[in-house]
Amino acid sequence: MGWLDGYSAVVTGAGSGLGKAIVGRFLTEGANVVAFDKSGEKLSALKTHHGDAVETVTGDVRSIEDNKRACERAIEKFGKLDTFVGNAGLWDFNRTLTDTPSELLEAGFDELFGVNVKGYVLGAKAAIPALQASGGSIVLTLSNASFFSGGGGGPLYVASKHAGVGLVKQLAYELAPRVRVNAVAPGGMDTDLRGPDALGLSNTAIGQAFPIGEVMKQRSALHFEPAPEDYVAAYVLLAAKSQSRTVTGSVFDVSSFGTPTRPSGG
Ligand SMILES: NC(=O)c1ccc[n+]([C@@H]2O[C@H](COP(=O)([O-])OP(=O)(O)OC[C@H]3O[C@@H](n4cnc5c(N)ncnc54)[C@H](O)[C@@H]3O)[C@@H](O)[C@H]2O)c1
Repeated sequence: MGWLDGYSAVVTGAGSGLGKAIVGRFLTEGANVVAFDKSGEKLSALKTHHGDAVETVTGDVRSIEDNKRACERAIEKFGKLDTFVGNAGLWDFNRTLTDTPSELLEAGFDELFGVNVKGYVLGAKAAIPALQASGGSIVLTLSNASFFSGGGGGPLYVASKHAGVGLVKQLAYELAPRVRVNAVAPGGMDTDLRGPDALGLSNTAIGQAFPIGEVMKQRSALHFEPAPEDYVAAYVLLAAKSQSRTVTGSVFDVSSFGTPTRPSGG
C-alpha cells in the first residue's frame, strides 16, 4: 500500500525534470495524476510512458482558465482533487540587474513572475474549492533561492522564490483548518529548466549553460549531484495526510545548502 493510495493530484510543470519525477513517484505511491504542462510534446511522452494512470492537460499556468481545466479534469476522471502541486518554473540564469538591459526588464520580470508567482496563485485559486471539499493540500516547489542570495539565481528568480514562501504562509493561514499548504525547496539539478523568452533565456536548459552538477558537488553540504528523483519523497510526505496532518505553512528545505560546506568535502 502506498502513502497516496486513492489520491487524485494535479502536478504543474509535469513534462520534465522535477515535475515528471513527482508524477512517477505519486503513481508508485498509488495516486492518479493530472499532468499539466505547456509542452504537448513532453506530455505525450509522459502519457506513452505511464498510460491510463495519467491524464494530461496542455496549458499555461499563467491562465486561470487553464488551471481550472486541469483541476476539473481531476474531478471528471478521478472524482475529486486531494493534492495540487504547483511546480512549473523559470530560472533567470543568474542574470544580474546591472547586466539586464532596461528595455527587456519589464517583460522579463512579468514573464518570470508570471510563471513562478502568478502561476502558483492562479493554481491555488483554481484548486481551492475541490481541496476544501476533500480536505486536501497544496504543495509548491520553491528553491534554495527561497532562503539565500548569492547562489540560487539573480534578483528576479530569488525574489520570485522568496515570494513563494510568503504565499505558502499566507495561504496556510487563510485555508486552515481544512486545507494544508506547504512547499518543498530543492537545490540544483540538471533538468530542462529554461529562462524567460523576453530576456533571451528560453533556448538553453540549465545543465547546458551552467555546470549545475559540479556546483552541487562542490557547494552543497552533502557533495553529490542530486537527480530530480532524489527530491520527490518530500512531496509524498507533505501530500499524504496520514503522514503530515500536523504540517501546514512549512517549507521543507531539501537542498542541503542550509548547512555550511566543509572545505574537505567530507
Ligand atoms: N533545476 C534546478 O536546479 C532547480 C533548483 C531549485 C528549484 N527548481 C524548481 O523546480 C521546478 C521545476 O523545474 P525543473 O528544474 O524541473 O525544470 P523543467 O524545465 O525540466 O520543468 C519545468 C516544466 O515547466 C513547464 N513550464 C514552464 N513554463 C510553463 C507555463 N507557463 N505553463 C505550463 N508549464 C510550464 C516546462 O515546459 C517544463 O516541462 C521549478 O519551480 C524550479 O524553479 C529547480
